[in-house]
Amino acid sequence: MTFSHFLADDLQSKQQILDLISLAKTIKNSPADFASALAGKSVAMIFEKPSLRTHVSFDIGIAKLGGHALYLGQQNGKLGERERVSDYAKNLSCYADAIVARVFDHQSIVGLAEHASVPVINALCDLYHPCQALADFVTISEKFDDLSEVKVAYIGDANNVSNSLMLMAATLGVAFTLVTPTGCGPSAAMIDKVKTIASHSGAIFTHTTDMDALGSQDVIYTDTWVSMGNEDDQDKDNVLATFMPYQVNHQLMANTGASVVMHCQPAHLEEEITTALFDDEKYSVVFQQAENRMWAQNAVLVTLLGA
Ligand code: NVA
Repeated sequence: MTFSHFLADDLQSKQQILDLISLAKTIKNSPADFASALAGKSVAMIFEKPSLRTHVSFDIGIAKLGGHALYLGQQNGKLGERERVSDYAKNLSCYADAIVARVFDHQSIVGLAEHASVPVINALCDLYHPCQALADFVTISEKFDDLSEVKVAYIGDANNVSNSLMLMAATLGVAFTLVTPTGCGPSAAMIDKVKTIASHSGAIFTHTTDMDALGSQDVIYTDTWVSMGNEDDQDKDNVLATFMPYQVNHQLMANTGASVVMHCQPAHLEEEITTALFDDEKYSVVFQQAENRMWAQNAVLVTLLGA
């Protein structure tokens, strides 16, 4: 498998994603076999935004591979402000063997990858969250034997998480339904991207604003109605009024027949998902998803950096 960065979900082939899913499961089953995979390697992790799961799963995951993780918060200012993104990339490449970056603007990820001489991993930006999507397809493949038979629906705000999920689903040939309120869908460019990939893979992709058009589903997925960085642009009352009909709850699980509910977290309980469903272990795999972040990311790191 050859790719030199992990930046967005439309940049890997189906086989590359399947290989990453398989490697994630292998590492999860036998972590001791990978205890030296990153020996002597250091990973610089840039975080422009808050993080719990991503920060901890990368840091501890890298330690489990025998490598060293360095956290870079906001102390050096926003990427591109105190120094150019290109200089950030070139300086970090002097010391680190890879760069993990959570940024506001996807162009910062593109700039880092363009100018770094080491692999760059996107740990969330405004457009994508590919580490999340990879972990989620690891989780889905643990719940369902045949990915080609699974129907996934994402309900709520079209955002980085839904973009990554729909692109990865299209690549893998997984049927994907995106349900958003009117005016809260993905950009035309993102829809074009997913439709092009789906036309090659044969995946079914549907975008609707109509909750009654969901039909039967296997997996229901949701995420926050207001993503990090967009808080100031949104009037909370307006958000609640727009999105409340799209809340994921037990009634929706019954209506669709779905057996699994997913959420990337942090969850805004009683908004995009009810507390009762989030906590219901009959359906909810949210902590399996959280754990799989680490194994999926370790698969990416081993692929990009392993001996
Ligand atoms: N869409 C959310 C995901 C958080 C992991 C955000 O960007 O804030």
